[in-house]
Order: sequence, then C-alpha cells, then structure tokens
Amino acid sequence: MKNIMKLASIALVLLFTLFGLTNKASAAKLTLYCSVEIDVCEMLEQAYEKETGTKVAMTRASSGETFAKIKAESSNPKGDVWFGGTGDPHLTAAQENLTAEYKSKHFNDLLPAAQNQAVNANYKSVGIYVGALGFGYNKELLAKKGLPAPKSWMDLTKPIYKGEIQIANPNSSGTAYTTLATIIQIFGEDKGWDYMKALHLNVNTYTKSGSAPIKATGRGENLIGICFQHDGVKQTKKGLPVVTVSPAEGTGYEVGSMSIIAGARNMKEAKKFYDWALSPPIQTMVFTSGKSLQVPSNTKAQADPDAPDLSTINLIDYNFKVYGDKSTRAGLLSKWDNDVSVIPR
Ligand code: G6P
Repeated sequence: MKNIMKLASIALVLLFTLFGLTNKASAAKLTLYCSVEIDVCEMLEQAYEKETGTKVAMTRASSGETFAKIKAESSNPKGDVWFGGTGDPHLTAAQENLTAEYKSKHFNDLLPAAQNQAVNANYKSVGIYVGALGFGYNKELLAKKGLPAPKSWMDLTKPIYKGEIQIANPNSSGTAYTTLATIIQIFGEDKGWDYMKALHLNVNTYTKSGSAPIKATGRGENLIGICFQHDGVKQTKKGLPVVTVSPAEGTGYEVGSMSIIAGARNMKEAKKFYDWALSPPIQTMVFTSGKSLQVPSNTKAQADPDAPDLSTINLIDYNFKVYGDKSTRAGLLSKWDNDVSVIPR
C-alpha cells in the first residue's frame, strides 16, 4: 500500500512538472528590437505584455546598430519586430530581404509619407511616425559664453563654435545619417562634403545614439546638439534650457519605421504587434505620453500639442528611395569614415 502511494505521488509530481513545462512553452513570446527612446521602448513593452499576456524581450539600440545586428543574425534570426528608428536603414533592410512583407489592416489610415515608406519597401516596412531634423542649443550656456544663437546649418561651421557641437556617428545613428543625407541634398555632393568636413572641426564628440547630443546639451555639458526637433522639444518640456532650431536653409526629416524580421521565430505574434502598434489608441498613447513628440503615422491618432508642427517647417523633398538604397548608404558611410572622421581637429 505504501509503495502504491509513493508511486502515485511520483506520478502526480511528474504530471504537474510536465503540465508546467508545456504551459510555459505555449506562452506567447515576442522579441522586440527597439530604436526609439528607451523610455518609449519600455512603455511599449509593458503595455503590450499587459494587454496581451505575451512575454516581450526588448532590446534598445540605435537604427544603424539594429540594422547591423539583424544583418549579422540573418542566417539564424533572433528578433521578431524592429520598432522605430529612421526609415532609411529599414529600407536598406527591405532591399536586402532582411525583413518580411506584411500589409497592416491600418494601412489606409496612414499618412502618405508612412504609406510611401511601405511602397518603397515592397511592404517590408511601414512608417510609424514623422519628425523633422534640426538642432538645439543650451541658452544658459550660450549666454555664459557670450556667443550668438545659431540659426542655420551654415552657422554650425563657423569657427566661433569650435568644440561646441555634438552629433552622433552616422554608422550607428539614424539621426546622424539623416543629417549627412540632408546636407548633401541641400548643398549638393561637393559642397555637402566640404560642409561635413567643416562641421567636423567644430564637433567635440560623435556619440553612438542620435539623441545623446541633445541630452548632453540639456544637462549643460555641451552647447549645440544636432538632433530631431522633437528630441529638442522633449528636453525643453522637461524644464531644461534647450532652444530648438529649424535651420534657415530648410531641413530633412525621417519617416520612423517598423519592420517584421524575415524568418521571425514568432511570426504570428510579430504581425499582431505590428497591427497593435499602428492602431489609433496605441499611437495616441505613445505620442501623447510626453515621451515621444513625433507626428504619429495613423491619421486617426492624436499627437502631443507640443509636437513640432511639420506644416510650419521648411522641409526638403527628402529622397528616401535614394538615401535608403543599400549602395548609396554604404557609399556615404565609407566616404564619411575615410574622408571626414579621420581629419585631425
Ligand atoms: C530618437 C528619436 C526618433 C529617431 C531615433 C533614431 O529616438 O526620437 O525619432 O527615430 O532617435 O535613433 P538613432 O539613435 O538611430 O539616431
């Protein structure tokens, strides 16, 4: 009798362990690569977990870094969705078949710029927000140094700002790549590269992430940070002495994008997240949280009242097809590495 009881309890323990294991195995999972601000990535991770019960494993890295990671993992993909970051490397990823085709049920409600991103990527990407490029300065530091306020791209190359400017490295950062592409589109190839060399002489540090320069500006550790204008406004909203400038010559912009990774292990979950992230309530939650001041791509979603008004900004006709192209991107980055970044200063 004792033996029978023993055997029965062992069988029960085994049964429960097995049940626990299969239950764990069937819990939905999503691996999210996120290229927006870390506080926004965490907000998305938590909201999705709470709403769906799916376990999200999120990693935050800049646009160029994430592109490189997805490419390096392509023979054995580990990520499911790439959320955010500038549209250019998403286009390159689509061209290299690193991302998967999917048309969201929200497609018809999206801004034309967000739809164009999908069309240019053969539906292997889509726009989730739009934001204009610019720069910001610390007005207290500016007054202390007795310097004039910069108003244009050209102003940033003036010797009076030597060592006073920060921008990210265009290899890792989409913000800095957008800046490089914008400068070449505004000034042309030759003058554009001359510009990048002159700017280099005034740069104190090339950061990894695109928003790091304006954060350092907010903290008073740096005078001028090249950034997306919404990242400058975010610092001001925090009560920091940052003034955001829309450059006089006009400026480029990003169509921040989202793509599903080709060969995603959790493809069903990836598509579910994609639709969720494009839906009006989620976009309204993200873009009115005070953490993300871009213009949402879904026309039925609300933007933050302090989000830069793109209709008042002199935007250039940014050529996403050209600057998102694999060979254009590789060519610009290697020229920047070889001809600009090495100049002694
Ligand atoms: C910030 C901006 C985003 C942009 C991203 C690019 O998070 O708020 O609008 O897409 O930077 O990041 P990166 O580090 O690649 O320049």
